[in-house]
Amino acid sequence: MDIKDACKIAINQLEHCHNPYSKFSVGASLHATDGKVFGGCNIENASYGGTVCAERVAIFKAASEGYREFDYIVIATETKKPAPPCAFCLQVITEFCSGDFQIHLANRGGIVKSYRLDELLPHPFDPSWLDADKEKA
Ligand code: THU
Repeated sequence: MDIKDACKIAINQLEHCHNPYSKFSVGASLHATDGKVFGGCNIENASYGGTVCAERVAIFKAASEGYREFDYIVIATETKKPAPPCAFCLQVITEFCSGDFQIHLANRGGIVKSYRLDELLPHPFDPSWLDADKEKA
């Protein structure tokens, strides 16, 4: 699947958001390196902390099906200026993706701005920290 179709999926995901509390809609499509695409939308909860962002829904769907390698995500919002992923989502993306992973921000008109993961999260707590020298400074 190419990026235009992935963008359409992210925009289409806006129809499935469960967002009765914030009314803010986010759709995502996560592209695996083998071409498979996973959609996601934000799913809110009456216990607000139970809310899961669109990006994490897409990543967890993909990971639960055994996918671990991704090259980009498209994130769609209804806003003129498209919104970046929150820090929780950047952290979850970091679990599976390297700094050159592409984050494309879109609205209903298409992709408006693109970033690398390491631009949005330049100093990640990635899995390598768990193997780092554990000696105290
Ligand atoms: N939201 C996302 O889906 N992705 C983000 O990266 C930021 C925020 C959702 C969560 C909540 O349903 C709504 O947007 C307002 O915070």
